[in-house]
Amino acid sequence: MKLTVVGTGYVGLVTGTCFAETGNYVTCVDIDANKVAKLSGGEITIFEPGLEVLFARNLKEGRLTFTTDLAAGLADAEVVFLALPTPPGEDGSADLSYILGVSDQIGKLLKDYKVIIDKSTVPVGTAGKVHAAIAKNYSGDFDVVSNPEFLREGVAVDDFMKPDRVVIGTTSERAQKLMKDLYAPFVRQGNPIIFMDEKSAELTKYAANSFLATKISFMNEIARLCEKLGADVDMVRKGIGTDERIGKRFLFPGIGYGGSCFPKDVKALIKSSTEVAYDFKILNAVEEVNELQKLHLVSQIKAYYNDSLKGKHFALWGLAFKPNTDDIREAPALYIIDALLAAGATVTAFDPEAMKNVKRLLGDSIAFAEDPYSALQNADALIIATEWNEFRTPVFEQIASLLKTKTIFDGRNLFEVEQVRGLGFHYQSIGRP
Ligand code: UDX
Repeated sequence: MKLTVVGTGYVGLVTGTCFAETGNYVTCVDIDANKVAKLSGGEITIFEPGLEVLFARNLKEGRLTFTTDLAAGLADAEVVFLALPTPPGEDGSADLSYILGVSDQIGKLLKDYKVIIDKSTVPVGTAGKVHAAIAKNYSGDFDVVSNPEFLREGVAVDDFMKPDRVVIGTTSERAQKLMKDLYAPFVRQGNPIIFMDEKSAELTKYAANSFLATKISFMNEIARLCEKLGADVDMVRKGIGTDERIGKRFLFPGIGYGGSCFPKDVKALIKSSTEVAYDFKILNAVEEVNELQKLHLVSQIKAYYNDSLKGKHFALWGLAFKPNTDDIREAPALYIIDALLAAGATVTAFDPEAMKNVKRLLGDSIAFAEDPYSALQNADALIIATEWNEFRTPVFEQIASLLKTKTIFDGRNLFEVEQVRGLGFHYQSIGRP
């Protein structure tokens, strides 16, 4: 099939590359000429494990091309994916100006039947708005489909290639048939394509992310309770996660959820609920708990130093909002840095991928280290904010010899409490005795 993907951000690039990998011809369109030039020249613009190989192969074989020209991109495509940003506005609602702007242009360019697919996370009712924006300028036949993505950064290629499910929101049989053919290679293992109406598909995406955020906030509260009661959240997590109704995944307490999706989507669903006069009580609490959790580790640190962080120096391992990405959007580490600096402390950070992004954001308000160990020099304590694999089995003797005092504050529960304390460290983590 011939496809167009509008928007070469994270979702667009993964979507375009993965569809090219299954033999489709994909034209990716973006208004950013600089980005298009880089991508056309073989330079990948995002960090995503596994993507680069697929990107290079499909570019070389001519199945993946890039352009700034929407008209050329649309010319002979049957299917047009919209993978455009929906940034949160001041009030938390998703800003649809990119999506509706492109829809308007598409309406002016359409000459024959095409399926226009919303891949972005958009509020319920957006497919209808996209339809109306196109229909303003085009009176022929076309369909608008809601097809939310459920990609996790860091494992997006795998999530795309082997999805748990594909959700397709359209009641048009013609569009359903096209979508079924397009996704057939990805659901061969037996996972379902679930067809539904546009609004239910749009809400499915928000409900999935909000439910996962709820699991995390719930566990963060259980962890807080464990700290007060002297229980161990690792045990409680295992104890409940083995119940299949609950499931083992997404039960890890920490320093709050971050990233480009959960914070934005929880806010947007609260906003959408308010707009229809529904008070989504649980979600308000999920958000409030998350805000508190982002600073919980700093509260632990302040309490340890009797509220006096002035002149203290901290080594910080991890800046990305989670491992295997350079993404620092809503990264809890940034909130921790802010709070430490505000309290008069200094920070030297190390992250395998995200340092350049943080440098761009924070300039030289913190220092950066070449490797995890050199971050430790002259630090009063080590703080862990992202669970990169390379932090999981450090040489503790080296940590001990570099730190001023053997002190670790672990926001991701990476180590066994007994083992680290046995080595003489003061070791504080989340929800463990
Ligand atoms: C998420 C959804 O998982 C994905 O389906 C959707 O398409 C986009 O949003 P992503 O933001 O890439 O993906 O990251 P994810 O792995 O879901 O983690 C989100 C946040 O939750 C991270 O900050 C992570 O550290 C935190 N988290 C996750 C926890 O604190 N505890 C957990 O048990 C799991």
